[in-house]
Amino acid sequence: MADHKVLFIQGEDGKEVTLAALPSGVLISDALTGAGIEIGQPCGGQGRCGRCVVQIKSGKIRRRSTLRLSPEDVENGYALACQSVIEGDAEVIIPIQEKIERKLTTERSVADVTIPAGYDFLFSQNIRTIPLSLIPPSMDDQTDDWNRLKTAIRTSTGIENITPSLHFLQTMGEKLRVANWEITAILDDSINNNYPGWLIKLLPGKLTSDESIWALAVDIGTTTVTVWLVDIASGVLRDKASEYNGQISRGEDVISRIVYASKENGAEDLQRRVVETINNLIDIVCKRNKITHDQIIKSVIVGNSTMIHLLTGIPSASIRYSPFITAVNELPVLSAREIGLNIYSDAVIDCLPGIASYVGADITAGVLSSGMYETEKLTLFMDVGTNGEIVLGNRDWLVSCACSAGPAFEGAGVGDGMRATHGAIEEVWINGKTYEPTIRVIGGVKPKGICGSGLISLLAELFMAGVIDKAGNVNIHLDSPRVKRGDTGGEYIVVFADETSKGKDITITRVDIDNLLRAKAAIFAGFTVLAEQVGVVLEDAEQILIGGSFGKYINVEKAIQIGLLPDVPWERFQFLGNTAILGAYHALLSTEQRKKVTSIASNLTYIELSADNTFYEAFMSAMFLPHTDLNRFPSVKAELLKD
Ligand code: FES
Repeated sequence: MADHKVLFIQGEDGKEVTLAALPSGVLISDALTGAGIEIGQPCGGQGRCGRCVVQIKSGKIRRRSTLRLSPEDVENGYALACQSVIEGDAEVIIPIQEKIERKLTTERSVADVTIPAGYDFLFSQNIRTIPLSLIPPSMDDQTDDWNRLKTAIRTSTGIENITPSLHFLQTMGEKLRVANWEITAILDDSINNNYPGWLIKLLPGKLTSDESIWALAVDIGTTTVTVWLVDIASGVLRDKASEYNGQISRGEDVISRIVYASKENGAEDLQRRVVETINNLIDIVCKRNKITHDQIIKSVIVGNSTMIHLLTGIPSASIRYSPFITAVNELPVLSAREIGLNIYSDAVIDCLPGIASYVGADITAGVLSSGMYETEKLTLFMDVGTNGEIVLGNRDWLVSCACSAGPAFEGAGVGDGMRATHGAIEEVWINGKTYEPTIRVIGGVKPKGICGSGLISLLAELFMAGVIDKAGNVNIHLDSPRVKRGDTGGEYIVVFADETSKGKDITITRVDIDNLLRAKAAIFAGFTVLAEQVGVVLEDAEQILIGGSFGKYINVEKAIQIGLLPDVPWERFQFLGNTAILGAYHALLSTEQRKKVTSIASNLTYIELSADNTFYEAFMSAMFLPHTDLNRFPSVKAELLKD
């Protein structure tokens, strides 16, 4: 196989990197990754998103797919890095990559998180601190160190069944002797009753009652990772930090990540990236609170099932294919060392249980913190992020499903879509007579795209103003310079090029509208199927709890107008923020709450929508604005009849 020399020119600073000896058939994306050059692959290298575009200046490159490129793009030398192979010497320009802004939550005010009522370290915690005075060994007492310690713990607490790690045993003897046999043993006592107690650490002497004991609650979102630093001695949440999941450049949704993980070294790359993200956040909270990494002795982790598999290096491929089975829903207790978290090496890692491939620990934790499992009220709980997960029920029963809504409401799959950061249009109003829009932009700067809340708002306004009909067709006959016929159908220009930061129109196209309709239809069909399965009327839900960061910003009125949310009085909606991390925090603090998560996971009935015939029907009915059956949306009907 011939070896080729390829010169990569990086758009940002014109830096040139030459890779010699590349064999024929190597993908450009793999060559770049191998050379440590970052190139975003939002769809995981499936050729679907068109965002890994490079420009071939010269040389022999073969394009396997040009699905997301126009004929002019190809003529101008553009190629998808994930779909183009090297077949000879070449020169390739890598355009400036979309920067993912770091979004660290630096606020230290934690007023919105209160310590659970009645929290008491001694009675609420799994973590036990056991002061011990051991009788040193002698010629008359030849008991080994481990049995000496175990006996002392049993005598002091009655706990028999405990496990040390090999590392614990390797360091135990020296610690006992240096401390002159006066020590405090820190133990996690039977985390979820299925496993023996975990011996974490030996500290010299005795802990004073005012000493902090540090632990973490961690939420691994597909998009954002959040870490809370908690002093479990007092229960106080001391600090929060979050940033984008470092895996994003390898796929924006879980399916893209699973696809990427199946590539050579893909799973290792994804695991390294998420561990690095968490470790960066740990560095930040340790520094800000002047503690060492070794002082952190436990972490409760939540995330969707794919995120937990990728974190732990467990193959995730089976999640993607029918019958959609995880390798494991409830992991045994792990140590920090096993997954590479930079806290005390024998710290307990407790990944909360999930229930299925697409309803993971983030949802069981959300059900816990939302309190829906103990209310009489018929409750609909939804967490719309990169995935849409829904739970319906009350204290007597719970059913759940996941809709493959796709990341449209996070700005992906929409030409001018973007995440909710600086420069994103987050709200739109359209004048019903002139069809002129008014927009609100995050940061008050020139806009560069539209984020999820902006897209919901835009779709609703276009519909209510009569720019699009209920099937999403743009009325190109309107007397407005903003409507035009594009390649795929009618389009509406939200912002003209000279008013944007990128010098190009910000437009919503027919394809964008279809993607948004599909996303909202999938979610609404999920609601409908769950309600039908248990024989309740969706609109009878007495409370609708919305978790996840997405919920914080959506305008309920507009989400109802497009048929994303059921048409019930607004006061029934509550926005709970990140319910997943709150659930992790509660499970970290309380033995009782931890047991409840296990019981929620075993009592939650999961409905696999792809196996449900009624789903397709419900989905097709919801593909209209707001729905084929307008009577299900009386407030929207009344508004439309007014005009
Ligand atoms: S098209 Fe290449 S990563 Fe999506």
